[in-house]
Amino acid sequence: METQLAEMRVDYRRDELDVGDLAATWHEQLIRWLDEATEAGVAEPNAMVLATASEQGTPSTRTVLCKDIDERGIVFYTNYTSGKSRDLRVTRRASVTFPWYALQRQVQLAGDVERVSPEETRAYWVTRPRGSQLGAWASAQSSYVADRQALDACLDATERRFSDVAEIPVPPHWGGWRIRPERVEFWQGRPNRMHDRLVFEQDGHDRTWRVRRLAP
Ligand SMILES: Cc1cc2nc3c(=O)[nH]c(=O)nc-3n(C[C@H](O)[C@H](O)[C@H](O)COP(=O)(O)O)c2cc1C
Repeated sequence: METQLAEMRVDYRRDELDVGDLAATWHEQLIRWLDEATEAGVAEPNAMVLATASEQGTPSTRTVLCKDIDERGIVFYTNYTSGKSRDLRVTRRASVTFPWYALQRQVQLAGDVERVSPEETRAYWVTRPRGSQLGAWASAQSSYVADRQALDACLDATERRFSDVAEIPVPPHWGGWRIRPERVEFWQGRPNRMHDRLVFEQDGHDRTWRVRRLAP
């Protein structure tokens, strides 16, 4: 192996994070860091790794794109018959990591999930390119496909089906999930592995938020 894994490490000196640096709420702080990742030219800054668990407790992860952030939570869109949606229907729980390595930062959050309203899904759907809309109709995400030709044939058939349709409707099997976090951790790499970790945590009783520091 050419790559010397044991030698690979970065000493993090780019920035620091203290309680006084944080925005008043987790969602304002997340938007602030997302804006900074965008300005810094991070590739796909809204990409996040979504962790789910099956009914049997088997974990799985995959990347999805964050499409909305507000005080209620963060939203991504997907196929409701996919593996991840099956997990979310059963457990109603998810966790996400935004991996902004170029900024020596990550954000992790976890909480309950809910489907976003059909109106909200539609409002996002109409902003998608027609090709993406056709793809959502053509692909039964996470099901087995014989080969590439079979997949391309599905797209061709979908294109023919909607050739006379100006506004393609939202597929019944497609829409958004919102993760309503109860915990959001902001991580900033620091020298000597003494990183800054600040976590917003919601009190289970009165739903108020408080910020605490975690050891790295
Ligand atoms: C950068 C990137 C962004 C992605 N965004 C999405 C997304 O927003 N929604 C989605 O369903 N899949 C997205 N995918 C594909 C998923 O990672 C995954 O392959 C797919 O959703 C099936 O996952 P599942 O079988 O675990 O349900 C993305 C993949 C990458 C690499």
